[in-house]
Amino acid sequence: MKIAPSILAADFAALAADVARVAGDVEALHVDCMDGHYVPNLTIGPPVVASLRPHTELFLDCHLMVDNPSRLIGAFKDAGADGITVHVELGDPRPLLDEIASLGLRRGLAFEPETPYDAVEPYLDTIDLLLVMSVHTGYGGQPFIPEVLDKVRAARKEIDARGLDVEIEIDGGVKVNNAALVADAGVDIIVSGTGIFGADDPGAAARAIRAAAS
Ligand code: DX5
Ligand code: ZN
Repeated sequence: MKIAPSILAADFAALAADVARVAGDVEALHVDCMDGHYVPNLTIGPPVVASLRPHTELFLDCHLMVDNPSRLIGAFKDAGADGITVHVELGDPRPLLDEIASLGLRRGLAFEPETPYDAVEPYLDTIDLLLVMSVHTGYGGQPFIPEVLDKVRAARKEIDARGLDVEIEIDGGVKVNNAALVADAGVDIIVSGTGIFGADDPGAAARAIRAAAS
């Protein structure tokens, strides 16, 4: 299991210090970019990724919750992103996925809790990462929606049956108490924001999530 803390739950005024507290215990940092349009909330963008880049060698996993990702993909690349994930709810993601691939970045496709698995299945052979949202996008700290695990199982089955090189990531409401459940469903990467940065010792929280998932 790979663990990717969401910096949305970190202290933005002490981001480098917060990241240092988890760096030895995680494989990636999840960066939640919200534009105030696709979701009501407004968070962070390429300048923050650029500021963070010199402070960490961790994979920067950028989750774009924005209306117009193509306007930002190049800026995220220049800022030092390693992977960019876009939402299938915006329409045919192929042009965006091609753009992400052309920049040499990991291509991710995300879908909301109410979006059926069938909406992403046609794109499994053009992505590197499938991001299953287990809360509605917009805010950290929401309760986990267990029904999405059926979509994880369906994706796992199809990815394995076709021998595809696609990782499954889950995002929202994952903490030590449900890490085993998501691992059992076939998840490869756990995103956790408040479950890690909300803890007194974020590194220990990441280790506890990994142990629960193993
Ligand atoms: C929600 C974000 C999530 C969120 C996770 O729109 O995509 O990454 O920050 O936060 P927790 O783990 O607190 O639910
Ligand atoms: Zn996210």
